[in-house]
Amino acid sequence: MNVVVGISGGIAAYKAVNVVRALVLEGHDVHVIATDAALRFVGKPTLEAISRNPVNSDLYEGVAQVRHVSIGQAADLIIIAPATANTLAKLAHGLADDLLGNTVLASTAPVVVAPAMHTEMWGNQATRANVALLRSRGITIVGPASGRLTGEDVGAGRMSEPDDIVRAALAVVGGAGPDDAAAPAPASGSAAPDSADPGSADPGSGDLAGLRVLISAGGTREPLDPVRFLGNRSSGRQGVALAAAALERGASVTLLAAHLEVPVPEGVSVVHVQTAAELEEAARVHAQRADLVIMAAAVADYRPAAVAEQKIKKETAGDRVTLELVRNPDILAGLAVERRDGQVVVGFAAETAADEDELVRVGRAKLERKGCDYLVLNRVGWSLGFAAEDNAVVVVQRGGDIVMEASGSKATVAHRILDAVHPALLPRA
Ligand code: C5P
Repeated sequence: MNVVVGISGGIAAYKAVNVVRALVLEGHDVHVIATDAALRFVGKPTLEAISRNPVNSDLYEGVAQVRHVSIGQAADLIIIAPATANTLAKLAHGLADDLLGNTVLASTAPVVVAPAMHTEMWGNQATRANVALLRSRGITIVGPASGRLTGEDVGAGRMSEPDDIVRAALAVVGGAGPDDAAAPAPASGSAAPDSADPGSADPGSGDLAGLRVLISAGGTREPLDPVRFLGNRSSGRQGVALAAAALERGASVTLLAAHLEVPVPEGVSVVHVQTAAELEEAARVHAQRADLVIMAAAVADYRPAAVAEQKIKKETAGDRVTLELVRNPDILAGLAVERRDGQVVVGFAAETAADEDELVRVGRAKLERKGCDYLVLNRVGWSLGFAAEDNAVVVVQRGGDIVMEASGSKATVAHRILDAVHPALLPRA
């Protein structure tokens, strides 16, 4: 596949070398377009050696080959990593004052953008509006992640890891391998829901063969300062058991992994996330192509309003500290609203209910609020649920009917959950 990697001028440009490298190692023909600012951060010889192609940067070079349009026309996929706030603004408004801007405008290939900037710039109204505009045009935004930024600051704005960017980008074009130059690559970066997943050439047999299943597992962590976070006790066991069960039944499985305490079976494609914001981003990207979405992760409902740049010290914070928390978006409810035709969306609800009646009552109301197709309910408490090997669940479907109750190992429960939701998938399986 012909992949154009656009690199703009942020410090994360050095990490773009690994994006290029990963694509080349997968056998793709990679053409780098570096802005002048990018070349201040990473050298042309490095990019040429790694991409095995000349690096393009000057709009006025190679004019005879009409390069300002030909590179974009030949591209099957465009990845821009890192995308600075300036580059996002230029893309959003269709500016073409450099080779990268011209290439994007001249191309019908999907565009995947990995922003990287300081937290304040990412949170700025102008950037928010530009990102929303790009998304509305079907451009896929990967990240940014939260973590250590340049210097001492910590927060949202760090470029996603190169492997995650490459995986998300290849998922957008349907996991095209090196020889799939003409793989279904919809215009303007929209998802390609009808093509096969990366790494799942053999869809296998089983009642989920040919289906794409997206599962979230584990618990998100919301940073307070560089060393502390607000988290929860989820181990990810039930979500990983679901991934294993779906894989066994022939599905191609992507797992959004938020701090798992258990290993993931080989064959499952894993995307690591830290915070609810990262989970939301990854879920939106990967749900575009999923037939079944199961949100088993315990997502933080709130995050600290501000992340301290330095470790909070008792010497300065005193005897009593008040944390201000802000509400996180409800990812499951958002996915349910945005789901494409025929996609089945399943949520989980862990409740500290006194008994099963209360569990079901609370669950039905939650199912209604979230707008998903099924809700898997389980009781949790100090000694119930989380790190345990076994689980006991009740599954309610839209409308409130109980469709299944199961208890046993998390593997057994996983299969019973898939059995319960299977009828909704059958018409397309
Ligand atoms: O509202 P509650 O946290 O009980 O809902 C649990 C379900 O909603 C789970 O499927 C969880 O993954 C999802 N969830 C979410 N976004 C949140 C909170 C929960 O997607 N902010």
